[in-house]
Amino acid sequence: MQTVLFDGYIHSATEREALTFVMSETAIRRFVETYFSRRREFLALAEGKRLPFYLLDRPALLERIELFCDAFRREIKGARFFYAVKSNNHPEVARTILSAGMGLDVSGQIELEMALSLGAEKILFTGPGKSNAELELAVDHADRMTILMDSFGELRRLEAIAARKGVRIRAGVRLTTDPSGLWRKFGVPMDRLGEFLDEAASFEHVRCEGLQCHSSWNLNPWTQVALIRKIGESLRKLSADQRARIAFIDLGGGFWPPEGEWLQRPDSALASTAPEEPAFSPLTHYWKPAAPIRLFAEAIGKAIDEHLSPIVSSKFFFEPGRWLSHHAMCLMLQVIDKKEDDLVITDGGTNMIGWERFETDYFPILNLTRPASVETPCHILGSLCTPHDVWGYAYWGQDIQPGDILLIPAQGAYTYSLRQEFIKPLPDVVTISGDEESA
Ligand SMILES: Cc1ncc(COP(=O)(O)O)c(C=O)c1O
Repeated sequence: MQTVLFDGYIHSATEREALTFVMSETAIRRFVETYFSRRREFLALAEGKRLPFYLLDRPALLERIELFCDAFRREIKGARFFYAVKSNNHPEVARTILSAGMGLDVSGQIELEMALSLGAEKILFTGPGKSNAELELAVDHADRMTILMDSFGELRRLEAIAARKGVRIRAGVRLTTDPSGLWRKFGVPMDRLGEFLDEAASFEHVRCEGLQCHSSWNLNPWTQVALIRKIGESLRKLSADQRARIAFIDLGGGFWPPEGEWLQRPDSALASTAPEEPAFSPLTHYWKPAAPIRLFAEAIGKAIDEHLSPIVSSKFFFEPGRWLSHHAMCLMLQVIDKKEDDLVITDGGTNMIGWERFETDYFPILNLTRPASVETPCHILGSLCTPHDVWGYAYWGQDIQPGDILLIPAQGAYTYSLRQEFIKPLPDVVTISGDEESA
């Protein structure tokens, strides 16, 4: 395993090999205190509102956008940014993204319709298995669309649809990053890129002008760097004429937020619903460090300079989702029942986030009503009729009682978009617009 030290962060060669550490209590406390310091603001927002709710923090989102784009613009000339709507599909998130000058990366009809209704001018349409109805809608808005084709079959269907409508459409092709396992479902194998470009060039209506690849859950840039090297090798095998057609290379998203991955157990094992689980300690949390975004930008920029810029003159696109939306939303819940000293039930259930996230992931639960910089073991469970409805196994606060308002920070990515109307209704979204003080 290759281990790299950067700014005191330790990074291993790939995400899969990433090292896991016990989290330092000081680091968690520092994180918790930044949210406790805004306690009055959060409690004021809850007054008169129906709990639970999602708290959308627009200024926090704007700050992330600026940090991300600045880091990449500094390293990569002509970098362009498209927010992956799937990571949080609330229209206000997309509207904020658009206001900052980014484009949108959509993956299906619902997201595409939202992007169009918001007046997005730069839209990437990605994803496998696009339906004819989806392709038709995209072709109807060809002036603001780039369709990232996922297969030869999709190329042929797109050409037929565009020909029927008499429209020329800008497109690119997604490359398969891992030909084994379940990731093989995405894209066209790299060794068939030349064949794909030639078939596309034989069509009149589809203009295939670029490539896309995406790798997920990257705690550090090394998987993306390796992919860039592989793309460079594929491009070298093309003819000069084929290479000249590559006007953009889209390197996808997959950037892990800088706090790293926080886990309940060192091995990401699922929680047991049995009463005893001897190895589990509710106050010990685990951490896989993530690289700061400027390290991602530096390493990816260097790889582009080395492997791509000498052979193609392309623009570079990025599709960040999680890195931008993670800090943009918190969850606000209320304790509705206290059944034991160490067992409370909240009004909201994990249908709010659509999956059993906190059986594996750790996130601090802050008791805003009784704040304290101390974490106390307690089962904090939701109100759904399933034992898997878990928020966590401890809270930060002096005590916990019915009526207390709890905050779970940084829950913006792959939670709100996955919410389910299951047993309980979908909660409202309360927005911090950033204009409150002047209003
Ligand atoms: C093609 C594509 N681009 C971008 C993203 C966003 O990834 P992330 O939210 O990890 O940045 C995804 C996520 O699945 C994706 O499939």
